[in-house]
Amino acid sequence: MRSITSKLPQVGTTIFTVMSALASEHKAINLSQGFPDFSCDPELVRRVNHYMRKGFNQYAPMPGVLALREQIAALVKEKYGATYDPVEEITVTSGATEALFCAITALIGEGDEVLIVEPAYDSYIPAINLNGGVPVSIGMTFPDYRIDWDHVKKLINGRTKAIILNSPHNPTGATLSQDDLEQLEKIISSNNIYVISDEVYEHIIFDEQRHESVARYPSLAERAFVISSFGKTLHATGWKMGYCLAPEALTKEFRKIHQFVTFSTSSPFQYAVADYMRDYPEKISELPAFYQQKRDFFLQEMQGSRFEPLSSAGTYFQLMRYEGITDENDLEFAQRLTIEHGVAAIPVSVFYRFKTDNKVLRFCFAKEEKTLKAAAAILKKV
Ligand SMILES: Cc1ncc(COP(=O)(O)O)c(C=O)c1O
Repeated sequence: MRSITSKLPQVGTTIFTVMSALASEHKAINLSQGFPDFSCDPELVRRVNHYMRKGFNQYAPMPGVLALREQIAALVKEKYGATYDPVEEITVTSGATEALFCAITALIGEGDEVLIVEPAYDSYIPAINLNGGVPVSIGMTFPDYRIDWDHVKKLINGRTKAIILNSPHNPTGATLSQDDLEQLEKIISSNNIYVISDEVYEHIIFDEQRHESVARYPSLAERAFVISSFGKTLHATGWKMGYCLAPEALTKEFRKIHQFVTFSTSSPFQYAVADYMRDYPEKISELPAFYQQKRDFFLQEMQGSRFEPLSSAGTYFQLMRYEGITDENDLEFAQRLTIEHGVAAIPVSVFYRFKTDNKVLRFCFAKEEKTLKAAAAILKKV
């Protein structure tokens, strides 16, 4: 048999799978992979059941159930003052991952350069590579994880096609400010580049900050794909539901890809989420306080430990420096922490192409208080 020439020769098993498997093998508390260890609202489950029983079990419309797209349009209008036409400019996808893949595929061709901010979520580079694009890294500053826009300007050339942003940012918990977005506006106005804005943690933002969605900035929004995830917003990562906002011309190209990747997203889930957003609008507004309380609880429990927390302004991740504990590299330390101490975390170097090791681990605090308490009790003794 002829062998397959791998399109992604560099890609192996992701660290998330590796660490979760290690955590389960050693019965460790798993703060590595980013998902809640508590249930989503039972009402949401009841509504999915309701639609399944009522027979909503066939293909949904390709762009998504209209009632859901209307709810998304209303939410985006209310939160960001932005108007997106639910018919022509909003597409429901099978998770943000699918939306990211479709946006990158719609935009990027052979030799196009794409700016990505490192540390970077792991799906961007493979999607760029599959399309023949060239990822170009913008390293965030350390330890405050900001973007140096003067440096970004220097990286732009005639081949630069797009920039991928992510705020609130995984893995660092950093958020983009109004000033960041204004700087980006200036750069975009003199360069013909597109924006892919990964905003899956848009509703998980702390300390009274306002989420600076690209959708708020008309000069950016007119050339942007803005992507979000119901997995994060509804504590239902396993449902793999997301969406993409983009002006009509961009959405048209986006949907050409979407219809041949998945065609459409599971129907009963879409009807259920549409109902839920209509009937419980307060649930989304409660998210910042809900997760801020978890962040603060975890930090409180960690007081007195030799781990040094960095700032987490959004997402459900908390970074911790560990220089005071060991000079092992972050991968070795994360593995030893799991095997010997029984707490699993993610080494932040895996989010860098060249494995930059600042001796930082990422802990997910989307967990019940008893899980966080037990983990912190162990970590304090390390
Ligand atoms: C930054 C970021 N983007 C995208 C995704 C993928 O979202 P989804 O599960 O909806 O595909 C995640 C999930 O962890 C993420 O952290």
